[in-house]
Order: sequence, then C-alpha cells, then structure tokens
Amino acid sequence: MAQSKTALSTQAYKGTRDFYPEDMRLQQWMFASLRKTAESYAYREYDGPTLEPYELYAAKSGEELVSQQLYHFVDRGERKVAIRPEMTPTLARMVAGKLQELPRPVRWYCISNFHRYERPQRGRLREFWQLNCDVLGGDALQADVEILNLALDLMAGFGGTEFVRVKVNNRKLMDHFFTQSLSLTPEQTLKLTKLIDARSKMGEEKYGAGLGEIGIDGERRIQLEAFFGGTLETIAREHPCEGATELVKLFALLRESGAGAQIIFDPLVMRGLDYYTGTVFEVYDVSPENHRAMFGGGRYDNLVGMFGGQALSGVGFGMGDVTLKNFLETHGLIPELGGFTDVLVSLPKAECRVPAEKIARELRSLGLKVMTPLQVGGFGEQIKLALKHGARFVVLFGDEELARGEVLV
Ligand code: HAM
Repeated sequence: MAQSKTALSTQAYKGTRDFYPEDMRLQQWMFASLRKTAESYAYREYDGPTLEPYELYAAKSGEELVSQQLYHFVDRGERKVAIRPEMTPTLARMVAGKLQELPRPVRWYCISNFHRYERPQRGRLREFWQLNCDVLGGDALQADVEILNLALDLMAGFGGTEFVRVKVNNRKLMDHFFTQSLSLTPEQTLKLTKLIDARSKMGEEKYGAGLGEIGIDGERRIQLEAFFGGTLETIAREHPCEGATELVKLFALLRESGAGAQIIFDPLVMRGLDYYTGTVFEVYDVSPENHRAMFGGGRYDNLVGMFGGQALSGVGFGMGDVTLKNFLETHGLIPELGGFTDVLVSLPKAECRVPAEKIARELRSLGLKVMTPLQVGGFGEQIKLALKHGARFVVLFGDEELARGEVLV
C-alpha cells in the first residue's frame, strides 16, 4: 500500500539512536561495569542539567566545539541556551558552586548523554553517552596517575586491557616546544595544535598543506618531525621545561604504581578542547577498524576559577559509549546476556487469575522477574509464550494442582 505523503517517519533523528529493550540491555550492562569500577575507586555519582547557558562553553571549550558542534537556541525568555556537548564545564560550575563544602579531593563520575552536531560515522554520532571521571584537588601528579590507572581498570572490567593503548602527552611541553623552539605566535600555536589533532583523519597531503598555511616550512618543519620522532628521554633532554619534567615524573610514578605497559608517551596527542593545561591523554583500540579515541582527557587548571571564586585544578576523562561498544564487539567481549524474564506464571482459565497473581507475587518477593499472561491459554500456548519472551521457567497449574497445593515447574 502506498504511504500517504503526510505519514511520519519511524526513523530517529539523524545521528541519534532508539534504544529498543535489547539495545538498552546491552547499554545497561556496559554501564553497570563502568559504574562498578568507578565506585571501586570511591568515585561518587553526580549529574547536571542537559541545558546550560551558551556562555559556559563559549568561554573555554574551544572554537570547533562551539562554532561547529554546539546545539543552541534562544529560549522564550531571550536567554541563549546550549544543549550540553560535554560534562567538564558543568562539573566545574557545580564544584565552584560548593567549593567550601566539598571534601577534597573531589572524586566524581557521571554517565550522561550529550549532543554534538557532527557528521554521523563509525564512532561518531549526534547523541552519545559518556562516562566522565574526574578528580579535583590533591597532588596533581598523583591524581593523574590515579585517573590513568582507573582508565585501564575500566577496560580490565571488560577483560579488554590488552587491546588498548593509553597515549599520554603534556600541553605545557607542547606549548614550550611551539613557542620556544619553533618561535610560533599564540595564534599559530593554536592552529598547529588543531592541525596535529586532526592529522590522522585528514591524511598527510592535507596536513602538509596545513603546515604551509600556518607558516611552518623548511627548518621548522624538520624540527617538528624530529620532535614527533623522539622518545620521552630525548625530548626531555633536548627540550627541558616544566611539561617535560612533569611527564618524566608521571611515568616514574606510573611505573611505581605497577601501571601496565599499555600506558605510553605520544607527542602527537593534542586533544581538541582548549581548557587542558598539563597532562593530556587518549585511549585507543589497537584494532585499526576502530581508529577513533575511546576516551579523551587531561588536566585543567583554570575551569573552576572562572566562576569567580578560588581556582582548583582537576584531571579527568570522558569515555564514549559508541566507541566502547565498537571495541567490545570487535574483540568479542560481549557475553550472552541471556533472557530477561525468569518465570512465566500461566493462566489456564479466567478463574485462576487470583491464585496465579498470588504465585507471581510470592516469586517476585524472592527477587525474580515474573510475568503473568494477560490472556487465558492452554499449556502449549503458555509454553510458546514463555519461549518467545525468553523466560527460563514456566509455572503451570490447573484445578487439580491447585487442590493439592502444588504447581508444575
Ligand atoms: P572529548 O575528547 O571531546 O572529551 O570526548 C571524550 C570521548 O567521548 C571521545 O573519546 C569519544 O569516545 C566520545 N565522543 C565525543 N564525541 C562523540 C560523538 N560525537 N559521538 C560519539 N562519541 C563521542 C571531552 O568531552 C572532555 N570533556 C572529557 C574530559 C573529562 N576531560 C576532562 N574531564
């Protein structure tokens, strides 16, 4: 039958997903594991609103996020409102709002949804969920170590540590190299940071042209490539600065803490967001089909202070559900989640509704998931119904069983 022109589409809005019960089940299973690991480090769950003032992001999140990816609108009271694209500015606002009361270090996590106007593709959608874990206050390098170990343990929770690499760099080191060694202006530095961040996605030819546009050629280009080819030891020797010292100390502390060899130094990690001021990192799948970062994070010194009170440095990361699901599927780490219903209590005839409900209530009080049919049906029908709904057990009875106070399971 031809559809009328006015029929509404059943498709979800571009880049968003419907979560049918099976999808929801998988999502909740992933979140349960993340929650368990985050809470095992004594992180406390929080959340904030989906709507925030536009200015919250305009201040520090960076040009790409704000001018290209932010969903925003003007509300009926003429206020410019944004749909949250990330959690960190909200977290900073909330912590700044109760700075004096909160016991420090603040160790918080959330699992929330975010929107970004991006071209939907593998690993990128317009609505996604992120686990955010952050520590604010405390010794900065120790907090960095904790956050990196937590990132690896989240993957261990899925049995997937061996398939990830945590790539670590430091914004101060990069700023030092760009301004002191390459003598770039702040504007050139910002452009180069973005360009390097996008390098793997744009291809070498476009990257080369981009360098030319920023004014990096000849000797400076050779210096740049030599830097990227360096190890932490050579870079720290040739470019002594606060950032390099922090990185060397960080890796020494990581080794002491028994952190896995999956955590490596990578001078190419830039991070697209502008508020990072120290350690930055990204977690990658070793499988080339998942080439996008699964987590991104780093240290931010100037977010809490922007609300007018005292400054408080923090470090944390966001891990996306889309890339996590791709990762788990690629490495076969999703177990059979089994049926959802434990028991179906049958309804052989209308007069049996009361005893059937009584049995169901008793079983529910034991913590079982129990379904009662909404229609009378014979044994065969009820067993079919149970199979369809994936129930593991069926409680069958008729007048005779009831008279004896028994049922058939
Ligand atoms: P981000 O790098 O923008 O950082 O996002 C972190 C992770 O969220 C990404 O690695 C990816 O897994 C996921 N993600 C981001 N955008 C999308 C998208 N369009 N579709 C699917 N997944 C996406 C932040 O958001 C920082 N606020 C993280 C942070 C927390 N830094 C410190 N604390």
